[in-house]
Amino acid sequence: MFSKLLDTLIEAPIVPSFSRIGYDVRSRAEGWTPVGDYDLTGKVVMLTGATSGIGLAAARVLARSGATLVINGRRAEKNVVVVRELIASSGNENISQIVADMGDLDQVRALASELLASHDRLDVLIHNAGALSAKRRVAPSGVEATVASQVVGPFLLTSLLIDRLSQTGGSRVLTMSSGGMYSAGLTVSKLEMSEATYNGTEQYARAKRAQVTLNEMWAAEHPQIAFHALHPGWADTPGVDDALPGFAKVMGPILRTPAQGADTLVWLAADDEPLSTNGKFWHDRRERSIHKLGKTRSTDTPERRTKLWTWVTDASGA
Ligand SMILES: NC(=O)c1ccc[n+]([C@@H]2O[C@H](COP(=O)([O-])OP(=O)(O)OC[C@H]3O[C@@H](n4cnc5c(N)ncnc54)[C@H](OP(=O)(O)O)[C@@H]3O)[C@@H](O)[C@H]2O)c1
Repeated sequence: MFSKLLDTLIEAPIVPSFSRIGYDVRSRAEGWTPVGDYDLTGKVVMLTGATSGIGLAAARVLARSGATLVINGRRAEKNVVVVRELIASSGNENISQIVADMGDLDQVRALASELLASHDRLDVLIHNAGALSAKRRVAPSGVEATVASQVVGPFLLTSLLIDRLSQTGGSRVLTMSSGGMYSAGLTVSKLEMSEATYNGTEQYARAKRAQVTLNEMWAAEHPQIAFHALHPGWADTPGVDDALPGFAKVMGPILRTPAQGADTLVWLAADDEPLSTNGKFWHDRRERSIHKLGKTRSTDTPERRTKLWTWVTDASGA
C-alpha cells in the first residue's frame, strides 16, 4: 500500500519518475528481486540494439542468467567484440550475433532466416534498437529512417518470427519505447515527417507512439504470446549523449545508469508476472497508461489504429 502511494506520488511529476530517483525509491520501497537472480537456462532470447547503452546492459544480465542469447547490431566487428565480452564476463558460451540494420527490410528478413535456421525455439524477442536522429534520413525502402528502423523493421521481424514464438509457448515480445511518446498523438498520415517539417525529437515521439499502439494490437491478434512495451526513464547512454547533449549535461547527475534503464526490460523478459497480462505498457515494473494527455488520447481511435496496421503491413511487406 505504502509503496503504491509512493509510486503514484513520484509518477505524476515526470522528473522524479523518469530519473534515477524513481528507480531508487521504487526498487527499495517495493523490494524488487534483483534481475541477476533470474535463471534463464534453456530459454532463447533475441535482443536487438545490444551493442551499446541499455541493450548492452541488458545483454550482460541476460548472459549471466544462462539464456541462449542472440544479439543484434549494425556492425559485424562491433557485434563480435560484444559477444566476446559477454562470453568472457559470464562464462556462458551460448551467445551469438546476427548483423542487421533494423531499417533495412532485406537485412531484417536475413536476420529472421538465420535465427529460424539456428534455433528451434524463441522464448523472448526484444525490440530495443533505436535512435533519435537530428537529421532526416531515409531507409532503403524509402521510408523515413526512424520509422523504418523502429516501427516497420520490428513489425516485419515479429511477423517473420510469430510462428516460432507461438510454437515455443510462454513466449514474449518486448518493445523498448520512450516516455517521449507521451507528447505525440497517433498519426498515420504524418507518421513520417517531411524534409520541410522534420524535427528529430518529434519524429522519434511519433515513431515511439506507433510502437506502443502496435504492441497493444499484436497482443489482441496473438493472445497466446505476451506482448509488452515499456519506457526506461532517462538513462545515461551513448545514444542520449549523441542525440541530446544539452539534456545529458544538465540532467547528468540524476540520469539512470544503463543497467537501471535496462531493469524493467530484463524483468519483463524473465519474471512470471508479465505472463499473466498482455499488451501492457510498463515503467519501473508497473503497468502505466499509454496516455498522459487528453490531446493524445483523442487521436487514438479504432479507425486510426486499423489504418496504422494496414500501413505498416504494406510498408513492411509482411
Ligand atoms: N537512454 C534513454 O534515456 C532512453 C530513453 C527512452 C527510450 N530509450 C530507448 O532505449 C533504446 C536503447 O537506447 P540507448 O539509449 O541505449 O541508445 P544507444 O546507446 O545509442 O544504443 C542503441 C542501440 O541500438 C542500436 N541501433 C540503433 N539503430 C539501429 C538500427 N537501425 N538497426 C540496428 N540497431 C540499431 C545501436 O547499434 P549500433 O551499435 O550499431 O549503433 C545500439 O546497439 C532505444 O530504443 C531508445 O529509443 C532510451
